[in-house]
Amino acid sequence: MQTIPVDIAGRPYEVRVGQGLLADVAGQCGARLRKPVVPIVTDANVHTAWGAAVEASLAGAGKQAAWRILPAGESTKSWDNLIAVVNWLLELEVERGDHIIALGGGVIGDLTGFAASILKRGCHFVQIPTTLLAQVDSSVGGKTAINAPAGKNLVGAFHQPSLVLADLDALNTLPLRELRAGYAEVVKYGLLGDAAFFDWCEENAPAILTGDLAAREYAVAQSVRAKAAIVAQDEFETTGLRALLNLGHTFGHALEAETGFSDRLLHGEGVALGMVLAARFSARRGLMESADAERIARHIAAMGLPSEVRDLGLNVSGAHLAAHMLHDKKVDAGRLAFLLMRGIGQAFLTKDVTLDEVSAFLAEQLEG
Ligand code: NAD
Ligand code: GLY
Repeated sequence: MQTIPVDIAGRPYEVRVGQGLLADVAGQCGARLRKPVVPIVTDANVHTAWGAAVEASLAGAGKQAAWRILPAGESTKSWDNLIAVVNWLLELEVERGDHIIALGGGVIGDLTGFAASILKRGCHFVQIPTTLLAQVDSSVGGKTAINAPAGKNLVGAFHQPSLVLADLDALNTLPLRELRAGYAEVVKYGLLGDAAFFDWCEENAPAILTGDLAAREYAVAQSVRAKAAIVAQDEFETTGLRALLNLGHTFGHALEAETGFSDRLLHGEGVALGMVLAARFSARRGLMESADAERIARHIAAMGLPSEVRDLGLNVSGAHLAAHMLHDKKVDAGRLAFLLMRGIGQAFLTKDVTLDEVSAFLAEQLEG
């Protein structure tokens, strides 16, 4: 097992990456579980795959799980479910010093973390991420949120977990498409700041998909180390450093919005294609070599992720796609904020991109 510290000032915590953590959840959480009943929020798929193992571990420590099992899927991150979870926690008489467990992917982690942030003005929670995406990104760093009718992740809080348990065993039950989508957030760390990690990804990432444990552990631990280093320096995304974690997300978000935030394009798939577009847009501006942008596109495609907008079958103009970007949370005083690249591993934030320039670029990409 690898233990990675997240050195948030005043509230440091650990991310543990390894095997057997779910089957030893009581031992891993230790004194954090101070009452006989342990509140756990999860979704139906994760409960089917891992509920019994978690229950057995708790029973071995004389504890019992109180389950809140939500439907799987993005629409679970709603006001209705937030209210239901908070009321359920109040009925369980959860106190500020207690820990709530979030067992699942980013949907469950984001919703449960937000509920924990507002319950009695903030109580503790443990993240047990069960998707690759959640292990390498959403469970670390304390961003919590639900979706609102006006858009995704628009209501939330920064609220750090007390502990993150990233069990590599969980990836064995994850559908391949979800594994691939989560991989986009792994390779993101190479593209945004670590060219050597991108080289490693090109060489080793196929082994992540086929179940190689050493490759999975290295990918998750290296990603968590990268994210921990960033959030420790810029917890509240004020200096521009944490914004680098949004590489590919502005283009990706526009594509997700156009496809209705649905199974047509998973979040990680949108990020993968978004990173290719950010690279090509950077090359179009003369910031990076076209050959490097196409190297990124080849790797994304080799991992079974979308690398061409025209393959999505969208019947829209570049201007229509670009307009979705005006709803991006990074828009500042009406100016778009973009993550571009000066090369592989050299992402940076800029606000000098106009909607017309992006529209023209996207029109080219749609035509092919
Ligand atoms: P998800 O939580 O919907 O999980 C994907 C699917 O996998 C679901 O159907 C789920 O039931 C299933 N699943 C999860 N673990 C499983 C397992 N071990 N075995 C079998 N099935 C399993 O999606 P996700 O990709 O994990 O997360 C996406 C969400 O994360 C989005 O809402 C996004 O906004 C959010 N996010 C948040 C942050 C952050 O910093 N807070 C970062 C990135 C993404
Ligand atoms: N997933 C982006 C962030 O945590 O800032």
